[in-house]
Amino acid sequence: MDNDLQQFDLVLFGGTGDLVTRKLLPALYNAFSNNSLKQDSRIIALGRKELSKDEYCKFAYDKAVNAKHAIDDLRWKEFCTLIYYLKIDVNQSEQYTNLAHFLNHNITNIYYLSTAPNLFKPICENLAKAKLNHAKSRIVLEKPLGHDLQSSNEINEFVANFFEEQQIYRIDHYLGKESVQNLMAIRFGNTLFEALWRRQWICSIQITIAEKLGVESRGEFYNNTGALRDMLQNHLLQLLCIVAMEPPSSLNADTIRDEKLKVLKSLKPLTEESVLHNVIRGQYKSGAIDGKPVISYIEEENVPPDSNTETFVALKAEIQNWRWAGVPFYLRTGKRMQDKVAEIVIQFKDIPCKIFPSSMSNFANRLIIRLQPDETVQLYFLAKKPGDTNELQPVYLDLDFKKMVNAKHNPEGYERLLLDVIRGKLTLFVRRDEQQAAWSWVEPIINTWGKLNITPKAYTSGTWGPSAASALLAKDGISWHEELI
Ligand code: BG6
Repeated sequence: MDNDLQQFDLVLFGGTGDLVTRKLLPALYNAFSNNSLKQDSRIIALGRKELSKDEYCKFAYDKAVNAKHAIDDLRWKEFCTLIYYLKIDVNQSEQYTNLAHFLNHNITNIYYLSTAPNLFKPICENLAKAKLNHAKSRIVLEKPLGHDLQSSNEINEFVANFFEEQQIYRIDHYLGKESVQNLMAIRFGNTLFEALWRRQWICSIQITIAEKLGVESRGEFYNNTGALRDMLQNHLLQLLCIVAMEPPSSLNADTIRDEKLKVLKSLKPLTEESVLHNVIRGQYKSGAIDGKPVISYIEEENVPPDSNTETFVALKAEIQNWRWAGVPFYLRTGKRMQDKVAEIVIQFKDIPCKIFPSSMSNFANRLIIRLQPDETVQLYFLAKKPGDTNELQPVYLDLDFKKMVNAKHNPEGYERLLLDVIRGKLTLFVRRDEQQAAWSWVEPIINTWGKLNITPKAYTSGTWGPSAASALLAKDGISWHEELI
């Protein structure tokens, strides 16, 4: 066992919600099965329902199994010895007394706020009234943190009244993914790429997070959020930071976060005009995923039939610094797309003059870092066609990390992040100024869409989004990765 993993009491606000039952408890179960949790640690789920401990464990088990987590019944039973359930109305300060009596104040107390953001304020206030915001406490805030710059500032301001920045863990589960950390390892653990990782050799970068899923049962939440706030403002911009940041001088949390912040602050500010030209907003209509028909977004449960919420966004960003000036970064995310994939495509420049006859005259080297579903790195280059010819053909080196490192246990995003909260390691959490910079950058998009009433372009489910997304790159003479291969 890792010595930094001290004994803890972890309080899960929103204990009967989807995130806790489908993601957090299965992640903790995996950590428990891997013997990562210190004995006598406790997980205290809070909810408004009247449930006994056994009823809650059964409820959580069913949800985890439904979410297709591999659960061993016997091990789950042992895991349940750690779990407690308390009924609480989080708005009622007097109900925190019970929680205060329950917690062991001599060990790390973690409050995970897996609730709607409008409850963050009363929860913080009531934790403070019950003197639960003590030096050994930590608070974990789930995204979306706010709806725009102002609301996110308000929440951060409020939480800061009760907790120091060093006690606040803002989760972006993409940062917990093994593959995202591997991206840092590839960049900063090798000399090979660093020399090429700049405007002199790279002509464009694409970052895609595409999902086959629709909004599932989250219609109400999603309709007030949309792809820009749900995915781009956080996950995609965090990936962009890791791709584009300068090499940090150490793995220290603030050193890394300082470098990420510099990237966010170097993003070329968007204007109304650039939003109109360089940002594409889309919404899925009916279509087919894996050959099965699926309904349109506006037919989904709890989505109004005249909804203008986007389920897809693609945009072109630029970073104004010496390393990246002039290199377009194309970011894209969408639901009900053709494939589930998260990948970063680094397109290298073409050679300055050609001596080989080749039909692939525009083919340049391309590095594809795939984060999911599989974790691979592919390097495309040209090699000679076999035989009596000087012609070239594309070939690629293909590394599959899972196969290569043969890891026994590869923790998923939430597991890694929860363990880091227990360890008190802030590296993979978003600092307040980073979050503020990310909101500031997307704000002109929100404002322009609102002011000019920009409605999303329809795209058929099971495709790669609206045709305008292809046109966005075609204007610059390039295409999305999947259109080339
Ligand atoms: C969440 C979004 O943050 O990320 C969801 O709220 C999305 O809408 C999910 O489905 C995607 O995460 P992953 O890890 O499945 O790529």
